[in-house]
Amino acid sequence: MEKKICYFEEPGKENTERVLELVRERADQLGIRNFVVASVSGETALRLSEMVEGNIVSVTHHAGFREKGQLELEAEARDALLERGVNVYAGSHALSGVGRGISNRFGGVTPVEIMAETLRMVSQGFKVCVEIAIMAADAGLIPVDEEVISIGGTAWGADTALVLTPAHMNSVFDLRIHEVIAMPRP
Ligand SMILES: Cc1cc2nc3c(=O)[nH]c(=O)nc-3n(C[C@H](O)[C@H](O)[C@H](O)COP(=O)(O)O)c2cc1C
Repeated sequence: MEKKICYFEEPGKENTERVLELVRERADQLGIRNFVVASVSGETALRLSEMVEGNIVSVTHHAGFREKGQLELEAEARDALLERGVNVYAGSHALSGVGRGISNRFGGVTPVEIMAETLRMVSQGFKVCVEIAIMAADAGLIPVDEEVISIGGTAWGADTALVLTPAHMNSVFDLRIHEVIAMPRP
């Protein structure tokens, strides 16, 4: 099978619409109906919900990522997503987790942070796609025995989309990346 990857000249939010169009197209071709999308504000997830049908899991930053005790996802945005049937999830980030607390306190780096930085060699969004797939799998919100589409970006919006089979954090190396749908050219 020959399948072309869409490479963006620059990373970032301006690629969001194109990524989501390509996601819709590939999901239809492969019959995929499970989607996980990184969406801090809910904006990217809301747009995705207008473009595809199926199980959409919107993953936002954990509470305290920016401000102690605070979620960045506002209640209004969360409610708009829930109204459209989107699952909204916030939890510990799979590819930093408690390791981030250890390196913040003591310096140095933990193995899981090295994994994250290695995935970022492809793109920020590539790391995010893997991370949110693990998080959504551990929350029981997406299957681990079939292909899903995972969507991430560079700080805001989407610039990377992968077809992958998720895995739980306790069997992380079972996760399989089948296809890159789109990514920024590093
Ligand atoms: C759990 C999680 C981890 C993220 N990690 C990174 C990261 O390491 N690097 C990065 O550039 N963006 C990161 N992001 C941002 C996302 O890739 C994406 O661009 C953003 O969530 C889109 O939010 P929006 O819908 O509010 O624009 C992360 C987002 C989430 C929810």
